[in-house]
Amino acid sequence: MPIATLKEVLQPALRDGHAVAGLVCLGWEDMCAYVEAAEHEQAPVILQAGPGCREHTPLPVLGAMFRTLAEQASVPVVAHLDHGYSIDECREAIECGFSSVMYDGSRKPLAQNIEETAAVVQLAHAAGISCEGEIGFVGYAEGESSAGTDPQEAAEFATATQVDAMAVSVGNVHLQQSESSGLDVDKIREIEAVCQVPLVIHGGSGVPAAQRSELARTTKISKFNVGTELRMAFGRALRDSVAADSERFDRNAILKDTVSPVTQAAIRVLQSMR
Ligand code: 13P
Repeated sequence: MPIATLKEVLQPALRDGHAVAGLVCLGWEDMCAYVEAAEHEQAPVILQAGPGCREHTPLPVLGAMFRTLAEQASVPVVAHLDHGYSIDECREAIECGFSSVMYDGSRKPLAQNIEETAAVVQLAHAAGISCEGEIGFVGYAEGESSAGTDPQEAAEFATATQVDAMAVSVGNVHLQQSESSGLDVDKIREIEAVCQVPLVIHGGSGVPAAQRSELARTTKISKFNVGTELRMAFGRALRDSVAADSERFDRNAILKDTVSPVTQAAIRVLQSMR
């Protein structure tokens, strides 16, 4: 199937009352597992290259890996740059064949976030691809704390930048290893009352699966980013694989055993999006 843009998968999700999973990729095995899970569920999927992934593998390589998987898949696959921190990084991703970029200006003052995000939106749209922005700041477990999204600022941000998707801070936190008490639904309602754009939840691992499903069906939340939950599944599978045979040294043989458990974990994530 031709590679899909973020807009092409989020607009139907918004209309039909489900969400699309933005899955954090670190290597070929997890990317393959995510696409296999999406095909099993007959659901679109967003493959995401975040800062950790880019530190390990060059962007042109990641672009080629994502595009290869998208073209071979029987479901829509988006190649997404997650947390691009500079306009140049987003430009490079566009040149490397990504079909969606996130410009993360969420640590910057509002006016600067709007100006820089709008510039990336223009670049992305000129290339026929999508752009996600962030308003408010989604913090990190045992790290930087969050700054909740202000609904009026969100409305201003959405209109001024023309982003295709808008990440919000409504009780979500990155890198949670267990379920939290959940998101601030009243705040989500206030934001969606003044914005038309599909909303994105980063830090999806901490959101209870039942709440993900409820919010996907009943609100404008159309994308949940999930990383930690799947990285934990990979880590467990890798330890089991190594422990299963102390003689084995071939990397491909060891890693092959991780694909099925990660696929099963990704299937559960995709099932919580509807
Ligand atoms: P988690 O790792 O907390 O699921 O968050 C993923 C994410 O938001 C990537 O942008």
